[in-house]
Order: sequence, then C-alpha cells, then structure tokens
Amino acid sequence: MKNIIDKLEQEHTLTQNEWTALIAGHSLGDAEYLFERAREIRHRHYHHDVYTRGLIEFTNYCKNDCFYCGIRRSNRIVQRYRLTKEQILDCCSQGYSLGFRTFVLQGGEDGYFTDEIMADIVSTIHSLYPDCAITLSLGERSFESYLLLFEAGADRYLLRHETFDSGHYAALHPKPLSALNRQQCLWDLKKIGYQVGTGFMVGSPWQTAENLADDMLFLGELNPQMVGIGPFIPHHDTPFAEYPAGTLELTLFMLGLIRLMLPKVLLPATTALGTIAPDGREQGILAGANVVMPNLSPTDVRKNYLLYDNKICTGDEAAECRGCLERRMDSIGYHLVSLRGDSLNIDPPL
Ligand code: 5AD
Ligand code: FES
Repeated sequence: MKNIIDKLEQEHTLTQNEWTALIAGHSLGDAEYLFERAREIRHRHYHHDVYTRGLIEFTNYCKNDCFYCGIRRSNRIVQRYRLTKEQILDCCSQGYSLGFRTFVLQGGEDGYFTDEIMADIVSTIHSLYPDCAITLSLGERSFESYLLLFEAGADRYLLRHETFDSGHYAALHPKPLSALNRQQCLWDLKKIGYQVGTGFMVGSPWQTAENLADDMLFLGELNPQMVGIGPFIPHHDTPFAEYPAGTLELTLFMLGLIRLMLPKVLLPATTALGTIAPDGREQGILAGANVVMPNLSPTDVRKNYLLYDNKICTGDEAAECRGCLERRMDSIGYHLVSLRGDSLNIDPPL
C-alpha cells in the first residue's frame, strides 16, 4: 500500500484498480503514512495557514427531493425561511468585521431567487466589498444563469458531484436529477471561468470502494480549485434515516488522498466532519485539509438548515464560531488567516 501512496504522490494519479485497492484495503499504519505525506505537501504550499469562508445559508426552500437531505421538498416538518437582501448584507457586514474575505451564499434550489434577484444581491455585495470573493452554492442552473451571475461579480461556485457513478447517483436522488447533468453543470461553470468546488459524501448508502475510485478519477479529470467532502450523516425525517453514517476514518483517508492527487487544492474540514467527532475538523486539518467554513447565518434560522442530524454550531453566533475555530486551529499548531485565499490550483481558462 505504501508503494501506491508513493506513486500517487509522485504521479498524482492512479488506475481504477489501484484506487480501489487502496481505499478498500488500507491499514491504520497506511493511513498514518498518508497523513504525514499529505501534511508535508500542504505545508509546502499553504504552510500552517487555514483559510476561512463565511457561510450564509440564505434559503432552505428546495425544489429537489434528494433522499439523504434534511431540507428535501418532501420534508413537511422543516420550517422554511428565506433571508432578505438586507439580512444577507447584514451577515456580510458582520462577517467582514470578523475578518472574513470570502462569502459563500448557499441555499436550496429555490425558484424565488431568480437570476435577476440573485444578480442584484451578488452585484451589491461585489460593490460593497470589492476586496472579497463571492462564492455561490445554489445547485443546478442553466449555463446562461451561471454566466449572468459570473458577470454580476461571483467568483466561485460550489456544487458537489455527490457520486460519479450514474447508478449510485440514481439510488441517492429521485428523477429528474442525474449524474450526467450534475457533471455537465460543473463543466459549464469551469468553462465560464468560475473557480469551481465539487465533492462527495463518504459512506452514503450503497457506496462501494469502486464508487470512491470513480470519484477520485473524476476529480483528477475536472481538476477543481476546491473539493468538499464529508461523511454522510442520516437525517431522521428522510428515507435514509436508518442508514449508518460514514466513518471518520474513511473520510480522513479520502482527504489525505485528495491532498496527494491535487497538491494545491482548497480542501475544507467540513461541518459534517466536526459533527461525527468532536475533534473531526482538527483531524481533517491534520489529514491535509486547509479550509474551514464557519456559519454566518443569523442564529434564529440555523436550526432550520439541518441537512443531517446533530449538526454543530446551530446555537452559536458568528463571532463565537470564529473564536472557537481560532482556538481549535491554534491548539494543533495552525492559524486562521483573513485572506481571500484563492486557490493556487488555477488552470488556464478552458
Ligand atoms: N449528510 C451529509 N452531507 C449531506 N449533504 C446533504 N445531506 C447530507 C447528509 N445527510 C451534503 C451534500 C450537499 C452538501 C451541501 O451537503 O453533499 O452537496
Ligand atoms: Fe461554531 Fe465551534 S465552530 S461553535
């Protein structure tokens, strides 16, 4: 296994069989070895810096019905909310004072936020905070819509591919969602010039080592600027309520593999990782991650943006989360930085 890890570090790619063997067959010792290599590469490019992004969960309305997600359309129990433009701007203002230089606007696929309304919000933030990066995470939209929002001032877009394999994708999502359409959106975003983030859940129902191998091959092909991964965690009001959560161990291992394959990629230690283990995010950083994305949403709506059970930070103010993360990162010898934190992994435009 160590030979395959060395090959990955040197060549930044593996065959489908090698990926599968490594993912399915590694020992704890192999994982330790991987994390050491991943940390060294991370320190080479990003030192002990941890980039921060302020996450604004601005709507939990969603027209989709993904089987794993707590804010799926069929969940009638969730109290739905939308932030107004003024509330979103308040989050940015608070975030800016706290040192955030990237704002991530994330929401369900909510028809209320038309291109016109979104473009107005984006261009207002862009003119008020010209030194900040604007990241959108609004799901699947048309090429024209992505283009319009890019022209309004958005720099980055997060859209996880969730799982590359079409059959597995279809087991996690009802029609009309499809793996191919999701991947097409990512190619569109890239073509327009967005810095793109994609990713997947670890341990989602029926996921195999081959599926994860395909996910790695897809990441290699897309070469995104950011990769967000986290464990699947069941939500009690979804069809996947009884499925087991993904493990900390496998999620950390996948983080290390991604750092070796895409040395300069932005790799968040996600909230889901912090949810399955009290020190999950710290362990994520020590496995090669270099970004954290604390919540800037108003506290009164946070408990309504529960994609999975037991989500952390739902009662904490933005400043508390920032302080908490500062202490957590300091405790492992890393420090939060207040920079836009653009990826060093920039491709020439397609
Ligand atoms: N467990 C873990 N992650 C989830 N997501 C959605 N539902 C869950 C869940 N139950 C992730 C998806 C989505 C991102 C915003 O959150 O990967 O892309
Ligand atoms: Fe939110 Fe620790 S990061 S309370």
